[in-house]
Amino acid sequence: MAQVRHSAGFETRISDYLEVFEQTLKARLVAKPGLDTRLKEAMHYAVFNGGKRLRPLLVFASAEAIGVDPRSMMAPAAAVELIHCYSLVHDDLPAMDDDALRRGRPTTHLAYDEATAILVGDALQALAYQLLADDPLGASHAHGVIRVLQELTEACGADGMAGGQAWDLQLERHRPDRATLETMFALKTGALIRTSVMMPCLLIDDLSNECLDHLRQFGEHLGLAFQIRDDLLDVEGESDIIGKPTGSDAAKDKATWPGLFGTGAAKERINELYDQAMRALSAAQPELQGDSEGLIWLASQLTQRDH
Ligand code: IPE
Ligand code: IPE
Ligand code: MG
Ligand code: MG
Ligand code: MG
Repeated sequence: MAQVRHSAGFETRISDYLEVFEQTLKARLVAKPGLDTRLKEAMHYAVFNGGKRLRPLLVFASAEAIGVDPRSMMAPAAAVELIHCYSLVHDDLPAMDDDALRRGRPTTHLAYDEATAILVGDALQALAYQLLADDPLGASHAHGVIRVLQELTEACGADGMAGGQAWDLQLERHRPDRATLETMFALKTGALIRTSVMMPCLLIDDLSNECLDHLRQFGEHLGLAFQIRDDLLDVEGESDIIGKPTGSDAAKDKATWPGLFGTGAAKERINELYDQAMRALSAAQPELQGDSEGLIWLASQLTQRDH
């Protein structure tokens, strides 16, 4: 594997960043008494439940890499996490993966009901864009905000997460080739991970297209490795550590990387993608004005995680 420089630096700042992040989210998800209380409660349930917050952390690490204060990136970080949380609520629905456990608790449709879970997803997605629209950064970086919106909307729509999820369902009980499987992964999971890396970089206007392409590749390699690791954890992980059921993919005859090509090959593929991600980041490095240690640290966490 490529040389990794581990830094305690980013790790020590995580709790500070996440404290501001959680406050930002909480301020927008307070249930006010009234007719909509149950929906707001269910939204709260789907968001504040022990998620790893990896996508916001990627936003913060990416901000550090370009020399921007991560505390100014709370809106993009919250937006991508809200969309991710919504995708999980819908992913667990009976019509999709039909899972009962998420982040160590009953899935939202079981804790509430199916209709509420569908509406939670709708409302979380809307809230994500509301947060971006309301952020004061918009005033000084209007062009950047538009670029962020282009990136994020593509990443969560039919050419991103939602499209990938549709493809995931179509591939149940099928044996796609590796390129097809990885294209589906790139959409359902890779797109939001790539976006997390890209948003801070698109908000500022001073990186060349070439540098942006390298950063995009970094995010894409990482996103693909992340989903392969997720598939491996469904086979080799422990339910009380990953907070969701194991064996869920096999039970539904999902097309997964270890299922189609073996667990050993899956681990090798993760290492290969990690190396490619590191090379892409090195190629972007000359234009990065800040410290990339956080991105390097997160890349190894994401690819080696046990939950
Ligand atoms: C799980 O994502 C779903 C996938 C895209 C593979 P995470 O592993 O980041 O889930 P949380 O947010 O920590 O629960
Ligand atoms: C897709 O992958 C996750 C989303 C895009 C929401 P999985 O279906 O494998 O995610 P988990 O394992 O349920 O978290
Ligand atoms: Mg799924
Ligand atoms: Mg699932
Ligand atoms: Mg999975």
